[in-house]
Amino acid sequence: MTKTILRALAGETLPTPPIWMMRQAGRYLPEYKATRAQAGDFLSLCYNPELAAEVTLQPIRRYGFDAAILFADILLLPQALGADLWFVTGEGPRLSTITSQSDLDKLGPVDDIDEVLSPIYETVKILSRELPSETTLIGFAGAPWTVATYMIAGQGTPDQGPAHRLKDEDRPVFEALLDKITEGTIHYLSKQIEAGAEVVKIFDSWAGSLTGADFEKYAVAPAARITAALKAKHPGVPVIAFPRGAGEKYEGLHQAIGADCIALDDGVTAGWAAGAVQKDGCVQGNLASRHMVSGGDDLVRETRAICDAFAKGPHIFNLGHGITPDADPANVQLMIDTVRGG
Ligand code: CP3
Repeated sequence: MTKTILRALAGETLPTPPIWMMRQAGRYLPEYKATRAQAGDFLSLCYNPELAAEVTLQPIRRYGFDAAILFADILLLPQALGADLWFVTGEGPRLSTITSQSDLDKLGPVDDIDEVLSPIYETVKILSRELPSETTLIGFAGAPWTVATYMIAGQGTPDQGPAHRLKDEDRPVFEALLDKITEGTIHYLSKQIEAGAEVVKIFDSWAGSLTGADFEKYAVAPAARITAALKAKHPGVPVIAFPRGAGEKYEGLHQAIGADCIALDDGVTAGWAAGAVQKDGCVQGNLASRHMVSGGDDLVRETRAICDAFAKGPHIFNLGHGITPDADPANVQLMIDTVRGG
């Protein structure tokens, strides 16, 4: 029998939506913290195929999610392209910045990224051997705009100001950087698929800060280009696009991107999205992550409301964004029991 996630992605309406969770392998789990301590730092964990496979499997063992997401990070691609990358404890990622043509010229060719990324493909191979037969393996990459916001600023930014500035002040360099990331992403996701990823997801965490024509040019068009290239090379492998913060611009994105599924954040209501987005295909989402911290009746009520709103079409249950480190693992179980038990 075909895996439930693949059935939903193919457009089937299931009596119980399949479920997985963004950032399901992570610091809210004691077993993750133990393996991370064994690996040393976060990047050493990402590049250690045995341990990266282990942390990918931990939430599957604990909760029996319907999908596993490869344990890696969207910032490994910039590193493979030649940017310096490190993580500051308690603060987040730091990268060497790209703000000019000469910075861009220092990046290496897309064809060389596998020298750095081959351990990630090895993790995918281990997972396709070890995952339970009913569990779908999801590979992923960042969307070009979101990856560019980190490469341009050298760190996370609340308003993506430096990336907007480069876009406005030196559009040729900005667009050349986006092109390079787009080509790298096509290569990287193709390799993940060849290693055994059954679905790929494109994370555009900062799509919501693109307004007007920029949303179409820098969020929709690159995702469409990546999706078309993957579909040409790997027909039948579903693509999930997550342009977080798209708001009313979520409507029409299945067609505009060519994606099999649009992942929704919790900024839109499930009732609205059922009519405006799910009419065009599978949707994923969209419980607010804070319920994994607060739990209780609100969690149960909201979870049921989302399942009910999306019950008449293809739906994969998920959070609206990643689970946070202060979440209580018992609330994750309560969410799953609510989805599966009605
Ligand atoms: O979802 C999963 O469990 C799979 C692995 C995964 C990670 N990051 C592991 C991670 C995935 C899919 C990502 C995606 C990612 N990474 C995004 C897009 C999704 C989103 O959340 O918006 C972004 C923007 C990043 C970049 C990144 N990585 C930041 C800003 C940070 C620091 C902030 C934070 O959450 O800690 C990371 C670190 C990171 N990536 C951790 C994990 C488990 C924490 C590292 C640790 O163990 O200390």
